[in-house]
Amino acid sequence: MAYENIIFETEGNVAVIKFNRPKALNAISIDVVKDIQKALDEVESNSSVRVLILTGEGDKAFVAGADISLMVNFTPLQLREFSVALHELGFRMEGLSIPVIACVNGFALGGGTEIAMASDFIYASDDAKFGQPEINLGIIPGFGGTQRLPRLVGKGVAKELCMTGALISAQEAKEIGLVNKVFPADKLWEETMKTAKVLAAKGRFSLMAVKRCIDRGYDLDLRAACGVETDQFALCMASPDGKEGMTAFLEKRKPDFKGELT
Ligand code: CAA
Repeated sequence: MAYENIIFETEGNVAVIKFNRPKALNAISIDVVKDIQKALDEVESNSSVRVLILTGEGDKAFVAGADISLMVNFTPLQLREFSVALHELGFRMEGLSIPVIACVNGFALGGGTEIAMASDFIYASDDAKFGQPEINLGIIPGFGGTQRLPRLVGKGVAKELCMTGALISAQEAKEIGLVNKVFPADKLWEETMKTAKVLAAKGRFSLMAVKRCIDRGYDLDLRAACGVETDQFALCMASPDGKEGMTAFLEKRKPDFKGELT
């Protein structure tokens, strides 16, 4: 399928969504959200896709936020609808059965930091910049910045970032726990792909189970969260990969994970 605002490609078992509005530093509009939703339909209907990477076209930006030139003319209700669509996208990314890696190759501001946080983890180039600068526009984050950011970095740091609107370097973002790894810009893609391929070779069900346990369990009390883990742990034996992984260990060979869910 052809897309206007993104580039969607697959490389082996890895699907890649590239935000593709470089002239606007890949700013997100409702049309971008619609394109990503359609690409996620393609991802979900293709069982050979085992990992999804999000990145930005061009060398300057991942996503410089929501498109301010469109938002400025929104009514409050239109802005609300936009925020709802963004949140639905974030929840859908978290609900995907495969890992999503944000490969942040430049500015990730406002909605850019937010869509990266809705991914499973973030790798960044050493020249990337993160931040929630909405306060400088007289607004607040509308795509989870006030919610996912404190869950990742703690309330104090999240408040500081959302209240000052300060931009931080990739290294600072790593120090506060927002970013997992930082690479030289010319190595970022290669390193992200390397990890994607490692993930693609794991059991599909167990990857999904890790994602479910951590995302669902995080907001529950410990006993309830451990209950989620117990159920997912047991369900691993419903997938052929669970049996295969343990059998391969005992037979002293590499597991041959088929990635089938049943
Ligand atoms: N929306 C629309 N257009 C944007 C944009 C955005 N978020 N960010 C950049 N652009 C456009 C600029 O208007 C400019 O367009 P023209 O060439 O037509 O003038 C082009 O991209 C290049 O940008 P700059 O000339 O500003 O580039 P720079 O290198 O001088 O600065 C920047 C880069 C620091 C990222 C700066 O562009 C900037 O501050 N952008 C806005 C960042 C921002 O405030 N993001 C939050 C948006 S609100 C939001 O995201 C809400 C939410 O939670 C969902």
